[in-house]
Amino acid sequence: METIICADYEMIGKTAAKMVAEVLNHKPNAVLGLATGSTPLGLYGELIRMHREEGLDFSQVTSFNLDEYVGLSADHEQSYHYFMHENFFKHVNIHPHNIHIPSGTTDNYPAFCEWYEQRIEDCGGIDVQILGIGSDGHIAFNEPGSSLGSQTRIKTLARQTIEDNARFFEKPEDVPVYAITMGVGTILDSGKLLLLANGKNKADAVAAAIEGPVTSMITASALQLHPDAVALVDVEAASKLKMREYYDWIQAKKPGAPRC
Ligand code: PGA
Repeated sequence: METIICADYEMIGKTAAKMVAEVLNHKPNAVLGLATGSTPLGLYGELIRMHREEGLDFSQVTSFNLDEYVGLSADHEQSYHYFMHENFFKHVNIHPHNIHIPSGTTDNYPAFCEWYEQRIEDCGGIDVQILGIGSDGHIAFNEPGSSLGSQTRIKTLARQTIEDNARFFEKPEDVPVYAITMGVGTILDSGKLLLLANGKNKADAVAAAIEGPVTSMITASALQLHPDAVALVDVEAASKLKMREYYDWIQAKKPGAPRC
């Protein structure tokens, strides 16, 4: 995995946005895999700025989001449908019919999950997938123990994840217990993976994902199996990496490496 240590959160967003823009400049009809949570907000802010000020065009883009809470409708303020609309989609020129987010209210989850996988394939696969990481090492809602070959399905959230996400809900009991999520296998099928992480509370998960063994206990460690996975982490999230000096050395020696 290529590990790029950025000075701060803002630089993670700017560097990730440049990478996404590069994909779109080469392939205007690229398929983007998108993530929710606090981490990618800086990236979305920068993409919106690039759209407004530099004409970055999303008119031919197709998107697939990683996950959604089971039981929350698209207009629920904590749903990932709502999050994506408010924080990204309504600010750029992506066509609504090109947007895909797992449904949290379907009455047939197995059929929906199968359709979602098929739809990704029919659209030619995901070119670049944005990922956050949970403090328990999850990617999307692939909690510890998830098969590294898993596909889109329902997962039961881990207590740690419910605690982490309770900050967005009025009461911890309001956090849904189930989510519909792309699998680790779905994610690994993407052309390029961009893992973003910031803050001290991600340092253990980041170290385990990048330098630990590949294990279903830390599903982000599966990124080590991908030939084009990049981790963009701030100094705090990088603080437990043993090989940090080497990662900085690689970037210093790499022609055209992003200035982070
Ligand atoms: P966060 O969530 O960006 O809100 O920290 C990340 C995740 O759980 O994947």
